[in-house]
Amino acid sequence: MKIAINTGGGDAPGLNAVIRAVVLSATNLGWYVHGIRRGYQGLFEENGVVALTRDSVRGITHLGGTILGTTNRGNPLSWPVERDDGTVELLDRSDEVIEEFRRRELDALIAIGGDGSLQIASALSDKGLAVVGVPKTIDNDLAATQVTFGFHTAVATATDAIGRLHSTAEAHGRVMVVELMGRTAGWIALYAGVAATADLILIPEIPYHLDTLCAKIEERYETGPGFAIVVAAEGAFEAGGSATFQEEAPGQRSPRLGGIADKLALQIEERTGHETRSLVLGHLQRGGEPIAYDRLLALRFGSAAVELVRDGCLGCMVALRPPEVLAVPLKEAVAKLKLVPTDGDLVRTARNMGVSFGDE
Ligand code: F6P
Repeated sequence: MKIAINTGGGDAPGLNAVIRAVVLSATNLGWYVHGIRRGYQGLFEENGVVALTRDSVRGITHLGGTILGTTNRGNPLSWPVERDDGTVELLDRSDEVIEEFRRRELDALIAIGGDGSLQIASALSDKGLAVVGVPKTIDNDLAATQVTFGFHTAVATATDAIGRLHSTAEAHGRVMVVELMGRTAGWIALYAGVAATADLILIPEIPYHLDTLCAKIEERYETGPGFAIVVAAEGAFEAGGSATFQEEAPGQRSPRLGGIADKLALQIEERTGHETRSLVLGHLQRGGEPIAYDRLLALRFGSAAVELVRDGCLGCMVALRPPEVLAVPLKEAVAKLKLVPTDGDLVRTARNMGVSFGDE
């Protein structure tokens, strides 16, 4: 057996741990493993596919990033090609991917990715490629698995950051608004907001009202300690409004969420008169070493993915369904996103402790 492995989409802490578990588990079976650099891009490049041995994966479990590189521009189903006149055409190169696998005598692919990368994996599986997916994203928005690796590390980083903001907020008597990642899901903001004892947590699943939000802040000044911490998911929006996007830069592929913290800081200061500052934690949430939980989950996922290939369970994704790591069909895995249940226990816990979601 000769299998390939790639990492696609945004990086997440734990990618290297998956790679290590795949390489060690596969070599234990006497298989060969090849790494495709930068998603599928390496397939079309000289030296873009590299042999991975026990030596290549020594000492990488704790490292952030991915030794294979990643990209969120390398979708083989929609590959951007610039024409002579400067226009960009999107080509379907999926048949070339299948052909490259055949030419290189690669028997199967273990594709580590989030929602977008797993949709690509699912489409390639439909075309006959032997694929097993591994769910990755700090956003934790894949419905088929209880949790994705990388999420808890992002939560730990964000919790630490919010904790640090507390002392400055208190010292200056300020409102601090911190913006966290998560796309259309509020998981990181909810977990980190509750763990770091934020006063307000704004998530896309619960649209906020500016009046309610400002009333909570006023309460913190009138009868509370005289400062406030607001945690906003990047996808949060006002009831009746829509999410905030960054200004588009020339050549940018798709609209990127961002800017809610700056917007809110201005609105809060204007309405309440309290000095307000904003902070965007950004890619710090994706960087650095995975915490032990994510290392373990990533290693379990990598090992399970090799078992699935061994057992011929293809077109599947590994998923955490405690206490086990199981296989779920890729199609099911990419069918819907997992959003925060608005009546779930963590939202209730927060409300019981007086945290406001800006809605009531
Ligand atoms: O999906 C992971 C994620 O970090 C999102 O939380 C965020 O919206 C997006 O990727 C940022 O993408 P990029 O790295 O392309 O700016």
